[in-house]
Amino acid sequence: MHDIIEQLESKRAAARLGGGAKRIGAQHAKGKLTARERLELLLDEGTFEEWDMFVEHRCADFGMADNKVPGDGVVTGYGMINGRLVFVFSQDFTVFGGALSEAHAEKICKVMDQAMKVGAPVIGLNDSGGARIQEGVASLGGYADVFQRNVMASGVIPQISLIMGPCAGGAVYSPAMTDFIFMVKDSSYMFVTGPEVVKTVTHEEVTAEELGGAGTHSSKSGVADLAFENDVEAILMLRRFFNYLPQSNKEKPPSRASGDPAERLDLSLDTLVPDNPNKPYDIKELILKVVDDGDFFELQSDYAKNIVIGFARMDGQCVGIVANNPMVLAGCLDIKSSIKAARFVRFCDAFNVPVLTFVDVPGFMPGTAQEYGGIIKHGAKLLYAYAECTVPKVTVITRKAYGGAYDVMSSKHLRGDVNFAWPNAEIAVMGAKGAVEIIFREDKGDPAKLSAREAEYKARFANPFVAGARGFIDDVIQPHETRKRICRSLAMLKDKKLENPWRKHGNIPL
Ligand code: HXC
Repeated sequence: MHDIIEQLESKRAAARLGGGAKRIGAQHAKGKLTARERLELLLDEGTFEEWDMFVEHRCADFGMADNKVPGDGVVTGYGMINGRLVFVFSQDFTVFGGALSEAHAEKICKVMDQAMKVGAPVIGLNDSGGARIQEGVASLGGYADVFQRNVMASGVIPQISLIMGPCAGGAVYSPAMTDFIFMVKDSSYMFVTGPEVVKTVTHEEVTAEELGGAGTHSSKSGVADLAFENDVEAILMLRRFFNYLPQSNKEKPPSRASGDPAERLDLSLDTLVPDNPNKPYDIKELILKVVDDGDFFELQSDYAKNIVIGFARMDGQCVGIVANNPMVLAGCLDIKSSIKAARFVRFCDAFNVPVLTFVDVPGFMPGTAQEYGGIIKHGAKLLYAYAECTVPKVTVITRKAYGGAYDVMSSKHLRGDVNFAWPNAEIAVMGAKGAVEIIFREDKGDPAKLSAREAEYKARFANPFVAGARGFIDDVIQPHETRKRICRSLAMLKDKKLENPWRKHGNIPL
């Protein structure tokens, strides 16, 4: 028995060594942690239960029969993050460059299947050269098996991808179908085709970093939600982020008691919005002053900054926040911001996270670039997302709510549960100047008359009371009591039940 135990230990030691000390050294030299070091940091101490440590590939081509490493390039299993169950896989770049073999894919599929059965999130740490070249189509089949599971798990359990090294070719499509993607600056990249192919096909010269680095995907493409300085920061932030997520679509996110009183007033909010309606202000200041302990976990902070999204808590309850930001493009809705917010609203709806919306929107962005780019279809995504959303929806109009954008931004008409407006809110088809230039075109040559008309239009419509008179606004509230009124609304909505009619699935304008 003693011998057998020793054999087990030596097998385990071999698996733990992955591709060997030299390759581990090379990984460290690049500023990267190994697959196991990453899991140690991600999971609560001593909670990791590893599976399939002894799995080996079955490839015999290209001398592979004698080239096997137990575990086959991916460490899988489950553990806890802040006491909550999570399934994990962590690709080991020291073993065949983390390349995905049939057996490697089977290991990932096994944890995904188990996560679905018990209802717990899956976190994938990606660091891989892609399909295991020696295996050919067996590897491609393995990828497709993972893709299929990503899709089946979508909206059932939260899925998060951390990109911590290469992730190229078709391999990008597994993370792309997960709910959130975090990347590490300077050491991770994602692209469908690498710089060499790009050069051959389009004659563009571009580095891997420019083409698909963390900076590119968190600011230009919107593929990544956030970019972090290094492996440690990314993993520690992921642990924090995990606290906002429920275990599955059958549960609510965990609530966290806070010393921040639900009824807290903030008098500084009364002067947040400038008197001049064309002057910007920072919507993030409002968010930080309203949420529990000023703690806001913003996502996609460097992408489509005209809309702000992220998680926070109100009286302990997790909420998803969507807010137009007048600091950027005057808070207009455009293609990028519509897609950014739509996907976030859909995540919240799928996973029982109430949506809190702050509105200051002058409308959809005009111009050929937007029209040719399909703003009609992409703007419709946000409209669709809010309209199908059945979780509690609380909306506060802080200033402008013009035109179609008023309807879109969680209005009463899209089943907003509680819709508030600040007293200075302007809820109208458009701004007064534009409005009179259209309906009083005959007065165009007479500036005095036109400005009298503008004042008249402003007095009639640049306020929240016309909407209030129709019940489109439930109440006009003082800015300083915003937190209190939202907390009360969310408490009232705690057991809200609303179901959409049965259908196979809707047809969101993709
Ligand atoms: C098998 C691979 C591999 C792969 C890397 N390795 N990629 N083995 N299959 N796909 C091995 C290398 O042979 C090497 O082995 C070790 O991993 C480390 O690789 P290096 O090249 O030394 O590392 P580095 O210089 O950091 O470069 C990393 C890399 C490069 C950029 C990822 O290895 C690379 O370009 N690999 C090929 C990428 C690729 O074309 N993959 C297929 C994409 S198509 P040793 O023994 O020397 O340590 C694809 C389709 C998916 O993925 C389709 C899904 C539908």
